[in-house]
Amino acid sequence: MSEHTKDLIVALDIGTSKVVAMIAEVLPNNQFNVVGIGHHPSRGLKKGMVVNIEDTIQTIQYAIEEAELRAGFSIRSVCTGIAGSHIHSFNSSGMVAVRDTEITSVDIERVLETARAVSIPADQQVLHVIPQQYKVNEQDGIRDPIGMTGMRLEVKVHIITGSVSAAQNIVKCIRRCGLDVSDLVLQPLASSMAVLTEDERDIGVALVDIGGGTTDIAIFVDGAIRHTAVIPIAGDQVTNDIAMALRTPTAEAEELKLRFGVTKQVMVPPDSVIEIPGVGDRVSRRVKRQLLASVIEPRVEELFVLVQRNLEEAGFSDLIASGIVLTGGTSLLPGMTELAEEVFMKPVRIAQPVYDGNLSDIVCNPRYSTVVGLLIQARKLKSTTNSEAASPKKRRNMGAPTEAAVSQHTERKTHDGTEKSIFNKMKEWFMKTF
Ligand SMILES: Nc1ncnc2c1ncn2[C@@H]1O[C@H](COP(=O)(O)OP(=O)(O)OP(=O)(O)O)[C@@H](O)[C@H]1O
Ligand SMILES: [Mg+2]
Repeated sequence: MSEHTKDLIVALDIGTSKVVAMIAEVLPNNQFNVVGIGHHPSRGLKKGMVVNIEDTIQTIQYAIEEAELRAGFSIRSVCTGIAGSHIHSFNSSGMVAVRDTEITSVDIERVLETARAVSIPADQQVLHVIPQQYKVNEQDGIRDPIGMTGMRLEVKVHIITGSVSAAQNIVKCIRRCGLDVSDLVLQPLASSMAVLTEDERDIGVALVDIGGGTTDIAIFVDGAIRHTAVIPIAGDQVTNDIAMALRTPTAEAEELKLRFGVTKQVMVPPDSVIEIPGVGDRVSRRVKRQLLASVIEPRVEELFVLVQRNLEEAGFSDLIASGIVLTGGTSLLPGMTELAEEVFMKPVRIAQPVYDGNLSDIVCNPRYSTVVGLLIQARKLKSTTNSEAASPKKRRNMGAPTEAAVSQHTERKTHDGTEKSIFNKMKEWFMKTF
């Protein structure tokens, strides 16, 4: 196949710890093959949000350039994610009379419009309106009502809102890199697409993505999303605690966590000893490895208790029968499953993206759950004809994209009205806001 005919999708995860860009080729069976990965430690982000535009742009550039180099393609637009404590979510419902007794995608659009007609604070904008279930006349629990006959159509939806300025900062950074943003997806939603099974969603599950700056939650029951939340505490706090408690620089504390950290003290042999580098001129010390675990354990336990409280307050603690799925970089700490099962008193598994294509040894890592989910989202929304996310390698125009270029990348055909409805809201907002 010549490079011109390749059908490419691009995802960019701007995390607090790392920025990762992935370029993939869509295969005829609708799967995809990753052809380029760019990964760079983040600068300019705090707790999932951009706090320094120039540093963030620089990091995005590095990640994109590396992915382009490896793939041999120049990127023009990306599907990216958003998280942070500015994210809010709630459930809503809507109802309309069906126009011609047989339900069409137009009726779906109309009923979703009524469901999203709720007042939200002025500094917030709707990011997603996700249908949970439809009701036609008296029959409820319907997932796809198109083609059904009825007089009255009702919908229950999950609405996710986010700060306008937080989203604008992400888009600004990406555009300053000479790229368009095709979609902006809530990060836990993306991660859930990459790691959860259909059975888990049906039976009830809580996805908990523990990254560097944020812990992102997404709950699914009866196949639909019910609750989302972002807690601004994650692996960075564990590292900070280690730095404070063991009086060592943050970079050394991170290294100690990655090399010797475990979440349960009992997992460490009592005679195991590690060396702690001193701050400044101070000499290094030797301490028991259990001491390191004694710093990590209460912090991670506290985080799990916060998640548990969030699930209880949202009313879903008893409905997630298949338990908790942990992902994100911090889930790699040994002992996470055991500690989580003690706190949640539910089955827990550590998940990585479900993917078996090219570069799977790199891609299948809990740190890449969000970016793989963004690729899945990009693939879902990709038009079969009009969208070309990347072109054969040539120098990118670093100027601001034109309005026409933005709309070319944000207008896509979708295969059914439901999906179109969800994501069109996002695009409408995009076009109005930026
Ligand atoms: N092998 C490992 N063992 C323990 N912790 C790890 C390991 N690898 C990464 N981490 C921790 O995971 C965190 C980074 O995770 P991840 O890459 O998922 O974060 P991110 O997506 O950049 O951040 P966020 O999603 O919070 O904005 C860091 O705190 C890092 O110390
Ligand atoms: Mg992340």
